[in-house]
Amino acid sequence: MASTLKGIDVLRADQFTLDEIDLIMDTAARFEAAVRAGGRLLNLAGKVLATLFYEPSTRTRLSFESAMLQLGGQVLSVAEAKTSSSAAKGETLFDTGKMIESYAHIAVIRHPVVGSAKELADGAVIPVMNGGDGAGQHPTQALLDLYTIRKERGRVQGLTIALAGDLKNGRTVHSLAALLATQEVRFYFVAPEALTMPGEITADLRARGVAIEETDDLAAALAQCDLVYMTRIQKERFADPEEYERLRHAYVLDMALVQRAKPGLIIMHPLPRVDEIATEVDAYEGAAYFRQAANGVPVRMALLALLLGLE
Ligand code: NCD
Repeated sequence: MASTLKGIDVLRADQFTLDEIDLIMDTAARFEAAVRAGGRLLNLAGKVLATLFYEPSTRTRLSFESAMLQLGGQVLSVAEAKTSSSAAKGETLFDTGKMIESYAHIAVIRHPVVGSAKELADGAVIPVMNGGDGAGQHPTQALLDLYTIRKERGRVQGLTIALAGDLKNGRTVHSLAALLATQEVRFYFVAPEALTMPGEITADLRARGVAIEETDDLAAALAQCDLVYMTRIQKERFADPEEYERLRHAYVLDMALVQRAKPGLIIMHPLPRVDEIATEVDAYEGAAYFRQAANGVPVRMALLALLLGLE
């Protein structure tokens, strides 16, 4: 059955309707069950995914590639695109997009510049997914985050959710805030003063009627929240290394903090973590970040299948 997502680009988390979000969640759940049941899926046999990563990645690239392979498709990968592709010779992403359709049926790009995925998509006929554009957006991560919240808590509506850490530079929280704003949640935005959520994002959310508390006090926020989404201080976005050193230990979530939090707290993190979650927290049953990373595969299977018009 053809879906409304066939042929589209995935560039921002706020581009989806509620029906589209439900379709992606339901398709991911079906793929997760199918993978668990064993058996060989061949939905995307004969299709090729190109992965263009101009910035480091472990989970995003591997889970996209695994998703494609598990659907019977194939993968072409330029892992160190910055140095080993024609970008090093000055080719624009628009021109890269122009020729990519001859090699692949769908592509995912990660790049340090905000708007880069759109530039590739503007040149390309095939669907392009944004795997992270600088401090901009990371929409496929937001979808797997939403999928994780639904699995962990059974529902999203009515939850109070803290987004904590580097809210200024973290693309995952920019995308997740936009996606969760469609789901009737309340937010605590927890950040040191230098790393607060960009004003245009909070203004946009408030204009949509979303309740937001902004604070730098993680412990106080955790006493009120059902779920906390911790993030890494984004070292690579700092112009001044001393500023990074000053802020890198802004928050460390350890068991002492968890014990003072609202009972049943769920802890998420897009990973990689540096030291903002102590490893002692890994054994806590609400520590969901490794389960969250695993959810990247079925959610990306769903995106690949829906964008290619197959289910
Ligand atoms: C995130 C990213 O690249 O934005 N990682 C990921 O995709 N899971 C988070 C980060 O790097 O801090």
